[in-house]
Amino acid sequence: MNGHIEFPDAHAAPGTNGSTPRPLKRDPDGFLRRSVQDLFSLAQRTVVITGGARGIGLAFTFAVAEAGGHVAILDVADEPHPHFHELAKRHPKQQFKHYKTDVTKYEVLQKSIDAIVEDFGRIDGLITAAGICPDEPFLERDPKSVARCFEINTLGTYYAAQLVAKQMTTQAPTDFNPHGGSIVFVASIAAYVASKGQCTSDYCSSKGAVVSLAKALGVELAAHHIRVNSISPGYTVTDMTLDLCERMPHLGHIMTHEPPMRRMADRTDLKGIVVYLLSDASAYQTAEDTLITGGIHAGRLM
Ligand SMILES: NC(=O)c1ccc[n+]([C@@H]2O[C@H](COP(=O)([O-])OP(=O)(O)OC[C@H]3O[C@@H](n4cnc5c(N)ncnc54)[C@H](O)[C@@H]3O)[C@@H](O)[C@H]2O)c1
Repeated sequence: MNGHIEFPDAHAAPGTNGSTPRPLKRDPDGFLRRSVQDLFSLAQRTVVITGGARGIGLAFTFAVAEAGGHVAILDVADEPHPHFHELAKRHPKQQFKHYKTDVTKYEVLQKSIDAIVEDFGRIDGLITAAGICPDEPFLERDPKSVARCFEINTLGTYYAAQLVAKQMTTQAPTDFNPHGGSIVFVASIAAYVASKGQCTSDYCSSKGAVVSLAKALGVELAAHHIRVNSISPGYTVTDMTLDLCERMPHLGHIMTHEPPMRRMADRTDLKGIVVYLLSDASAYQTAEDTLITGGIHAGRLM
């Protein structure tokens, strides 16, 4: 036996991309080639983060930087939170830059992506964290406000993914990234369950669309070696949630008592999963959503 087993090309049906499955090969030592540290490394890779100027997106800039990557943030904010400027001090050999843009404006976003490619040379990963969470009763919603929520949360995710994926398909594989690219959408527990004490019909449905989009793109872009996954955090301490709790103090009680783990997430709780999803540690994972909710998606204790 020569160790090779040939299989028929199941993907070459009419209308498919015709990519050919790799022949099966015995490789008993294959799993010894790369250490866990190597698999999780983002060294030399450039990751674009929408909504990176503050909140969860800002925490992700640190996660990527700490794993060795360069970061370009896309945000409507004029200036990122001062923490962003810490990155260059902590990681002087890596590149960090803020691009003021709007994820809902396709042409503007295209120009920002072009500028990133000009400055960084390539894009290896994308995280879409730009989002808003209006809280208004369904029966009173103004169509313009509903449209704005979908534009930022869903269309902004769609546009950013498309523009970045197009760029990824033009890039040659490198030593530090032989596998195309990885895209991570920030969805929400709200894609699965209505938020207790809140009226977030548009937010919930906009995030449901994001989870579906990751599944569709994970399949469609697999042939381009682009993986697409989403994460669904539960209640996480950021300006977004703190602002909500200030306006509606009962929400603070819900957010800390609803999760079986009896606390909100700290942004630190989300750093590991995005490094995993962006890196080769998750090389065989695509079209999947990961819930990080302190258990709330599985049920309540009372
Ligand atoms: N905080 C939570 O509890 C929680 C839970 C689940 C999911 N999420 C999701 O995580 C993401 C980040 O949330 P957060 O709590 O950090 O919010 P945040 O308000 O602190 O940060 C959102 C960022 O997105 C940017 N942004 C908004 N509109 C934009 C646009 N049109 N173009 C570019 N940038 C834009 C904002 O300027 C801001 O920097 C959101 O998608 C949110 O829905 C948050």
